[in-house]
Amino acid sequence: MLTGPNVLLILKIAVAAVTVLLIAAVIAVARGNYRLHGRLNLLFFTLTLMAVLGLELVVRILAPEVFDYINSDSSLRQALNWHLWFSVPSTLILPAMLYTGLRGYVRVHLVLAACFAILWSGTFITGMMI
Ligand code: HEM
Repeated sequence: MLTGPNVLLILKIAVAAVTVLLIAAVIAVARGNYRLHGRLNLLFFTLTLMAVLGLELVVRILAPEVFDYINSDSSLRQALNWHLWFSVPSTLILPAMLYTGLRGYVRVHLVLAACFAILWSGTFITGMMI
């Protein structure tokens, strides 16, 4: 059923699954396997984008009232606000990560990677607490 807690549970599982891919991609690049890093991150990018678009489809079109209960609970709303401070910037940075990686703009890619690592960790931790 399309209830708020169900949607959150599915999102948490999706975020945990793509995080495994991201960690594998970072291990691959640390071992010098750039090609594998690129392939794993292409998958990470595609699946993350699908999760974001799926969430938007649910909350904007299919069931716009599904997260109303969050707004009526101030501590839940605060937890969601913290999460958005991390998740929105990390979603914005993601295409730039893919672009700089594919184009071989290594220095920019590594600077963005440092930001992205912080933002994704924040997204993960604060997301699991909602
Ligand atoms: C978060 C930590 C990350 C680190 C430390 C990292 C680091 C690197 C490094 C060192 C390279 C090799 C550059 C070279 O010398 O050619 C690389 C390539 C690449 N990265 Fe990342 N990256 C990270 C995240 C990401 C993410 C999130 C994406 C995409 C969403 C991505 C996509 C790519 C792609 C497509 C390549 C090219 C692979 C190839 O040459 O076949 N990376 N990355």
